Amino acid sequence: MLTSTIDQAHYRSVMGHLPTGVVALSGITAGAEYPCGLVVGTFQSLSLDPPLVSFSVAHTSTSWPKVRAAGRLCASVLAAGQEPVCRTLSGKQPNKFADLDWSLSEAGSPRITGAHAFIDCDITHELDGGDHVIVIARVLQMDTGHGEPLVFHKGRLRSIRELTAA
Ligand SMILES: Cc1cc2nc3c(=O)[nH]c(=O)nc-3n(C[C@H](O)[C@H](O)[C@H](O)COP(=O)(O)O)c2cc1C
Repeated sequence: MLTSTIDQAHYRSVMGHLPTGVVALSGITAGAEYPCGLVVGTFQSLSLDPPLVSFSVAHTSTSWPKVRAAGRLCASVLAAGQEPVCRTLSGKQPNKFADLDWSLSEAGSPRITGAHAFIDCDITHELDGGDHVIVIARVLQMDTGHGEPLVFHKGRLRSIRELTAA
């Protein structure tokens, strides 16, 4: 049997070679003044019929339990130029949405203004994923947005143009 002896820094470095989208997950609980949210690089399509998406969240996330409490969320695929939004939502400050532009979708979740695409969904399952939880969500509504996508590659936020030049 091969026992895993993968060094964590090596894992991060090798997996960092896989470019990912940068997706803001945001939800708002009934009666709350502001939404809550975080950024993930693990967002992906899962199933067409039924329409499902998935992503994984670290057990240490303090924002995820608040988003989960809303029961539904909007995944805003961030656009190139929205690096400040990414930094705010991946940070730890108490009210991340105080200075962000957002609006409520028809499905009742906060959409980040200017994002590249929007996927509104209901949270349906949470599965064990090591030090993360794998979340499955059912798509309620989805729309394209603006500009070009923001990409995370080798620990850096880049536009597609910067990625191909790197
Ligand atoms: C580009 C990028 C991708 C990230 N991807 C994930 C992810 O897939 N899962 C996760 O749990 N955290 C991810 N993070 C970290 C969270 O966004 C964030 O740091 C953390 O959840 C914020 O803390 P809080 O949840 O306690 O508010 C990512 C951060 C960045 C900048």
